[in-house]
Amino acid sequence: MLITKSVSQSLQQLGVENPEGVVRLFADCDAEFESILLRAAEDPKMGVEQWELMRQVWLGRKGILSHIGDNWLKPAPKDLKPIVGQELNKLKAHVEAALEEKRKEIEATAEQAAAARDQIDLSLPGVERAIGTRHLIRQTFDELLRIFLSIGFSVVEGPEIETPYYNFEALNIPEHHPARDNMDTFYIEGARGGHLLRTHTSPMQIRTMEKQPPPVRIVVPGKVYRRDNPDATHGYMFHQIEGLAVDTDITFCDFKGAVEYFVREFFGPKTKTRLRPSYFPFTEPSAEVDASCHVCAGSGCRVCKFSGWIELFGAGMVDPAVYGFVNYDPGKLSGFAFGMGVDRLAMMKYGITELPLLFQNDVRFLRQFP
Ligand code: PHE
Repeated sequence: MLITKSVSQSLQQLGVENPEGVVRLFADCDAEFESILLRAAEDPKMGVEQWELMRQVWLGRKGILSHIGDNWLKPAPKDLKPIVGQELNKLKAHVEAALEEKRKEIEATAEQAAAARDQIDLSLPGVERAIGTRHLIRQTFDELLRIFLSIGFSVVEGPEIETPYYNFEALNIPEHHPARDNMDTFYIEGARGGHLLRTHTSPMQIRTMEKQPPPVRIVVPGKVYRRDNPDATHGYMFHQIEGLAVDTDITFCDFKGAVEYFVREFFGPKTKTRLRPSYFPFTEPSAEVDASCHVCAGSGCRVCKFSGWIELFGAGMVDPAVYGFVNYDPGKLSGFAFGMGVDRLAMMKYGITELPLLFQNDVRFLRQFP
């Protein structure tokens, strides 16, 4: 009979009447415990939870040993009581010691398994962390700077928050000029002196000439802001690069030569340049610089709207009125200036039709321009 069954009966019910019988009964009990323990040792799933279950079955409040105490020991006849007590204590001591040993064993195995799991295998290939890519705008800026540095320009940068004086007035843009319209300019609320986000990089013409005597040969890369409705080719922010060259002997020929050199360097040696009359308050004469279409080489296509030409940027000879704002002598000095939209140049050069792609910073897009 299984011990688990017999422990709910009394010795009398089990027919145990003498000390030998008691010893035998406890020996059976011990044997059953041993065999259960042995089976547990072979079970690969034996873990702390199964161990705890076993402990409860044998040592728990309603466990086998407690039943033995209640059903064998307590109602045992006087002459058998001592031997039952002794045997019960022996069995209890054995079960406790064996289970404790088992617990240590299980814990050690678990620790070993965890250690094996956590072990770092230095021979495995590493986890590659993507570090992104150089942004196309950055690349385009670098290319533009390379070109202008190669013909003697140096680089300066200026603030994106400007005063109306530098953004407009000193550039000969009077109060009523449409460029000062609220529609185009972001004004900074509550700013004393009515600060604004610069609408072009041209304020740096003034800031530079204020600070240094001629000659000046600078390019100014940076962000500019205009209130525009966002679409495929417009946003509220874009990038410009400004150029300014002022000296005692700069002619329109120098202007044209510099512009043509730039266009050939940027779009390729076969690209032709055309100047169209235009208007800017701070240049006179002013021009729009066009390049022969890089797609059809001038024969006419959809990209150039069948004109053969693509508008690149605005430029011109510095208006003498501007020199008045920076204490330069308009009688002795002359120069040229230009302001290019960098995003636009990048889109043209790389055939991109959607401006927002340049600002979404999706590496899948950017990686196409390594
Ligand atoms: N600042 C002008 C613009 O943003 C461009 C420009 C710069 C024109 C310098 C002429 C000279 O439209």
